[in-house]
Amino acid sequence: MTIHQTSTAGLDGVEAAVTMLSHVNGEAGELVIAGSRVGELASESSFEGVVARLWSAASAGETAEADVRAALGQARLRAFRRLPDILPATRGLPIMDGFRAAVAAIGPEDGLSPEVTLVGALPVLAAALVRQAAGKNPVAPDATLGEAADLLRMLRGEAASTAEARALDAYLVTVSDHGMNASTFAARVVASTQANLFMSVTAAYCALSGPLHGGAPGPVLDMLDAIGTRENIAPWVDAALARGDRLMGFGHRIYKVRDPRADVLKRAVDRLGVSKADLGLAAEVEDYARMALEKAKPGRRLDTNVEFYTAILLDALKIPRDAFTPIFAAARAAGWTAHAIEQQRTGRLLRPSSVYVGPMPA
Ligand code: ACO
Repeated sequence: MTIHQTSTAGLDGVEAAVTMLSHVNGEAGELVIAGSRVGELASESSFEGVVARLWSAASAGETAEADVRAALGQARLRAFRRLPDILPATRGLPIMDGFRAAVAAIGPEDGLSPEVTLVGALPVLAAALVRQAAGKNPVAPDATLGEAADLLRMLRGEAASTAEARALDAYLVTVSDHGMNASTFAARVVASTQANLFMSVTAAYCALSGPLHGGAPGPVLDMLDAIGTRENIAPWVDAALARGDRLMGFGHRIYKVRDPRADVLKRAVDRLGVSKADLGLAAEVEDYARMALEKAKPGRRLDTNVEFYTAILLDALKIPRDAFTPIFAAARAAGWTAHAIEQQRTGRLLRPSSVYVGPMPA
């Protein structure tokens, strides 16, 4: 028996936690985060509002949005002060790897909870690494702004428009939590040993970085660039599938229909007024890829996932593609910290078993 022959090789369908945080219905294409559908949440709530709801649910307490907003502003300022100690260890590394080193360097701050420290720090680290890669100095946070507006400001060195800040806020909300995905599971495994939240979030980021999870949106843009023109869509996609390549931004373990987050992000892209030519090509690639996947992998039900429109949205916000995964992490840290808190409060040590197929002693 090989590992792949065991029915639980990818832990499909295994219930690893009982949670108040989010629910994914893959057949209906539905995502509920802390009691609301993702589409409603993205149009009605700020990132700080969702963070408050997630942390309240995780701790069975009451965390107010205004308190979260103020605390995250302070946490961004504290993280900025730590940059001179953190950045030297990241120099020369690609942004994705530098971010790992930077996240691992975040630790307890007096008067701030670990979850506030982490969710406030991640956007500061991401922005500083993007600027460092461009040979620029980091920009100090503005604690009076929301996380989305301040992140764009710290990236660019100047204020973003209200529409841009709103679009990034919708993104942060949309990807803030998503059931028992690989990185959240990693966070919960670490938390289940009663290790602290800094350990959990570092592990979660490492799990997020792979192309089968949060490392996909940069490669989505690479794919759109490589396709380039309308005429090239069919030959490029057909050749990729014939080689056995995976099309980035398509397929999902749980969703067997279109990922509901793809629609939420597509609406955010539409509202942002992205060039119709760019959006038109992306929409045509999407349509053709879905059809080609159905032909190449009949019955697999491979549809568009969140990463496809993430790539287009973050690109429209002028965020460099090698920073997409750290920006994703800055948003998902809301869910990671909430899951780690919930796991420590309500869970047991996560310790599955394995199927031994090696030789036995005589
Ligand atoms: N392109 C081409 N073929 C695909 C794709 C794809 N995007 N996704 C799955 N397949 C094929 C597999 O090759 C496999 O074919 P086979 O049965 O003939 O061997 C079949 O569909 C089933 O694939 P699995 O790997 O079993 O599906 P799994 O549930 O493990 O994978 C995953 C889900 C990792 C997301 C996969 O669809 C994929 O690699 N997608 C591309 C990368 C991507 O978009 N990642 C972001 C995911 S969203 C997120 O994590 C935030």
